[in-house]
Amino acid sequence: MSKKIKTIGVLTSGGDAPGMNAAIRAVVRKALSNGVAVKGIKKGYLGLLNEEIFDMDVGSVSDIIQMGGTILGTARCTEFKNPEVQEKAARICAKHGMDGVIVIGGDGSYRGAQALSHHGVNTIGIPGTIDLDISGTEYTIGFDTAVNTAMQAIDRVRDTSSSHERCSIIEVMGRNAGYIALWCGIASGAEDILIPEKYDFHEQTLINNIINNRKRGKKHHIIINAEGIGHSTSMARRIEAATGVETRATILGYMQRGGSPTCKDRFYGSVMGAYASDILCGGATNRVVSMVDGRITDLDIEEALGRKKSISEYYFEVSKKLNYYEFPKKQNH
Ligand code: ADP
Ligand code: F6P
Repeated sequence: MSKKIKTIGVLTSGGDAPGMNAAIRAVVRKALSNGVAVKGIKKGYLGLLNEEIFDMDVGSVSDIIQMGGTILGTARCTEFKNPEVQEKAARICAKHGMDGVIVIGGDGSYRGAQALSHHGVNTIGIPGTIDLDISGTEYTIGFDTAVNTAMQAIDRVRDTSSSHERCSIIEVMGRNAGYIALWCGIASGAEDILIPEKYDFHEQTLINNIINNRKRGKKHHIIINAEGIGHSTSMARRIEAATGVETRATILGYMQRGGSPTCKDRFYGSVMGAYASDILCGGATNRVVSMVDGRITDLDIEEALGRKKSISEYYFEVSKKLNYYEFPKKQNH
């Protein structure tokens, strides 16, 4: 029989993501409405080890749903991979009376949650990362805000790129995954999108595309380059030398992680937070909240991490087929 849950903890871990605050708010309020007490753990696993733990009430999460970042703070804590450190963390949870912990973060954070559950602390993961790179779920909190922020920034670069008749390489985040690049590349009508999952481009092809586009009267050429490929500045230098077209690199960086969350991130943050709280209060452990076939559900952590996540072939094909240079010069209607 599962143990009676009286008190749970909540932490955010890994890179922050817009919508994490909506998830924290939902976790806290749903637990309280289930008659379960909640403790906030600051700075992820690092704060857990340093016992930065405090009582939360309904007012602790007032006026945060619209805020970017995470009110709990976050950290990357490499020592948490050490089994002795994980055991110490489980003892700290027991010392503070926490029967379970909700971990909001990416797949690295899930592995920490998995370890805690093996040491007797009930854990539930909520997918929170701008990268959308967690297997077992179609959605991760923060992705929507990040791609909208990146798309707006790309539109701005495009204005100046057209005015100066330049080529622009814009590098977006995503660690080893190309979801951000693919989405905001398609959404901003980029001429070329480079993603690590499909590392199939030759620089000479890019060069030919730029030259062809220029011959057809296109004033700019936008290349979206994923962080997982990188080297945008040196690529720009080489492309300029080969094409004679002025080429600039813009690395969008951390601005993609900040800002007020979109409706979608607040909505799924709230729904996934409430769901996690309910199943943890009900005695579940070693589970993660996921979106599967558009529905919110939960999976075993092992199963979620073991599923294969891949870029949609169709989306990738679309990204290649809408470009100006794909078409013959005169179209018959
Ligand atoms: P994300 O959760 O966004 O993927 P990281 O990969 O940096 O970000 O992981 C966040 C934190 O989760 C790490 O700093 C570490 O504390 C913990 N973590 C990552 N991998 C493991 C692991 N294999 N075992 C235990 N804890 C881990
Ligand atoms: O996982 C989110 C993310 O922003 C990645 O896109 C990026 O590679 C990484 O975090 C950067 O991490 P840090 O904040 O540790 O520099």
